[in-house]
Amino acid sequence: MSVGSGTGHGKVILLGEHAVVHGQPAIAAGVSRCVRVTIRRASPAPAAELRPALAAAAAVVGDIDIDGLAVSIEGDLPVAVGLGSSAALSVALVRGLAAFQRRALHQGEVARMANEVERVFHGTPSGVDAAATSLGGVLWFEAGPPPHAEPLPPAGPIPMVVALSGTRHHTGHSVGELRRRAEALPQVYAPIFHAIGELVRAGRTAIEDGAWPLLGELMSMNHGLLRCCNVSTPVLDRVVEDAKRSGALGAKLTGAGGGGAVIALADGSPDDLAARLVGRGWEAFVA
Ligand code: PMV
Repeated sequence: MSVGSGTGHGKVILLGEHAVVHGQPAIAAGVSRCVRVTIRRASPAPAAELRPALAAAAAVVGDIDIDGLAVSIEGDLPVAVGLGSSAALSVALVRGLAAFQRRALHQGEVARMANEVERVFHGTPSGVDAAATSLGGVLWFEAGPPPHAEPLPPAGPIPMVVALSGTRHHTGHSVGELRRRAEALPQVYAPIFHAIGELVRAGRTAIEDGAWPLLGELMSMNHGLLRCCNVSTPVLDRVVEDAKRSGALGAKLTGAGGGGAVIALADGSPDDLAARLVGRGWEAFVA
């Protein structure tokens, strides 16, 4: 019996979410937490909520009849918190269907196809999530067109911690709302997006040089600008403040905001920072 499995890893956006939708660069990184799908011909057929994504993946990977395909999903990636779960699932489905067909895809094809599947989840993705969840590592990304993703090797391991706020978000809603506000007040929002682009450029140098205090400063600044774009929440702001009180060099929401996850840059051991955040009542893990 034919079986295909595929994995997609989660991601964090280190700098530049939202502004990336408006033409600025972003820096993202893969995380080890992942989603894994196994696809086989069997009954029962896929659950109704998975059907649109599976159909989109089957359409981009090739001519695959999804009727009678059973899909099982497992993994440890939290859902709808800004860690790229929809992109990771899209990557896993593309890889799983390709494996099911005994077809080899190169990484660029996986990212392009997964971004098509992502449209099922949230309309007009910039492509940063599909790139980061399929390519992994630290990545410089520009939405284009054409999209451009290139590896951004850090000077050393980035001591990053993920903390969950305990709330969820909806990326399409958050991106759509901000787009609406930005279109109504372009003279106000364009300089903010531009400033985010500038701090992403400065962040690139900080990552290449291993200048973690500077990277932390830029992350906190990025959070402030996302706050003034109204995509943060009081709970996310509390996690950011708790991270700083716990000794982080900087912290920010990651992903679309409106709930979800925060990333914090440790001044030293990320395990110690994660433990301090857990001590303050947040679920936290080293990225
Ligand atoms: O889906 P999330 O929460 O990982 O956020 C995606 C990043 C955004 O910049 C907010 C949207 C996009 O398509 O780039």
